[in-house]
Amino acid sequence: MSQRKGKTIFSAVQPSGDITIGNYFGAVKNWTQLQSDFNCIFALADLHALTIRKDAEEFKQKTLEAYALLLACGIDLKKSLFFIQSQVNTHCQLAWMLACHTGFGELARMTQFKDKSNSHSGNVNCGLFSYPVLMLSDILLYRADFVPVGQDQKQHLELTRTVTERFNFLYGPTFTVPEPYIKSGAKIKSLKDPTKKMSKSDPDLNSRIELLDSPDEIVNKVKRAVTDSESHVKYGANKDGLNNLMTIYSCTTGKTFDEIEKEFDGKGYGEFKSAVAEALIEHLAPIQNRFSEIIKDKGYIEKCYKDSAEEALNISNETLNEVKKKIGFIL
Ligand code: TYM
Repeated sequence: MSQRKGKTIFSAVQPSGDITIGNYFGAVKNWTQLQSDFNCIFALADLHALTIRKDAEEFKQKTLEAYALLLACGIDLKKSLFFIQSQVNTHCQLAWMLACHTGFGELARMTQFKDKSNSHSGNVNCGLFSYPVLMLSDILLYRADFVPVGQDQKQHLELTRTVTERFNFLYGPTFTVPEPYIKSGAKIKSLKDPTKKMSKSDPDLNSRIELLDSPDEIVNKVKRAVTDSESHVKYGANKDGLNNLMTIYSCTTGKTFDEIEKEFDGKGYGEFKSAVAEALIEHLAPIQNRFSEIIKDKGYIEKCYKDSAEEALNISNETLNEVKKKIGFIL
C-alpha cells in the first residue's frame, strides 16, 4: 500500500459461496471507488464464514477464488491493503476482549442472528451468536472512520458504535467511533423473492446473479426474475420485483430511475429484462476476464495476501497493545 492518506476505510466480505451482484453493488464497487481518497483496508472474512459448516478443500478453493475475484473487481494493492482475516491473529484476540464488553442481550437482538439461526437450525453455534463482536473488532483494530457496507450490516454497525463508546468511556479514548457508509445498491433483492435480500447462501441459484455467471445464466436468471402482472416500467409501491430490476439496471448503467422510465416508456417488461441482462453481461465481462488471468497465477495471489497480512498485523498490533495496556494486561 502506498503512503497512508487521511481517513481510514475498513470493510470485509465473507468467502462463503460465490460473490453476487448484491455484494458487488452494495459494497465492493464502492470500495474500489474510495481507494484514491482514503486509506483503505479490506479483508476476506474467512473466520466469519466458519459459522456455517464447510468442506475443508472446497473452503480453501473458494477463499482463493474470492480473493482473486475481488482483485479483479478493482482492489488495487498499490493503494489498499487486502488480507485474509485468519492470517492476522490480532482479530480473534481483540474479539475476546470486546466480547467481555458486549451484552448477551445486545447480541440476542441482532436480526441476522435470528434469521441465520432459523435458516441453519441444525447448527446454531456460539460463533454465529458472537459474530458481530468479531466484526466490530475487525473494524476497530484499524481505527476505521467509515465502513462501506450494504443495508443488511447496518444493525451490526450500530452495535459497533455502542461497544466502541462503552470501551472509550470505561478506559478513556481508545478507538475511533466508525460510521457506516451506505450508498444506492445497498439492498439488491432476491430475483425469486424480492422481499428478501439477494444472498450468496440462498439454496435457489436462480435467486441471485454471481459475478462469474455466464451470459446465458444471466439472461435466464433475469428472464425468470419475479415481477408483477403490470407491464409499465415504472418504479412504485407493491412492485418489489420490478423495483429491484430497476435498481440493478441503475447500478449497472449509472442511469436514474427517471431516465430508465423514459427509456422504456411504451415498452414491456420483456424488453426491459433483456436490457438488464445485456447491461449486466457487459458490466461483468471485464471483471470476468481479469479474474481468469489472475486465478492462473497462484504465486502472485499468495504474494498479495501475504504482504497485506504482514502490514495489517503491524497496524493492528499497535491498537491491540494499547487496548491490552488499558485493560491492565501485563505486556
Ligand atoms: P457478506 O459477506 O454477507 O457481504 C459482503 C458485503 O456485501 C453486502 N451485501 C449486500 N449489499 C446489497 N445487497 C445485497 N443483497 C447484499 N448482500 C450482501 C453486505 O452488506 C456486505 O457489506 N459480516 C460481513 C463481513 C464482515 C465485515 C466486517 C463487514 C466481516 N467483518 C467488518 C464490514 C466490516 C458479511 O457477512 O458480509
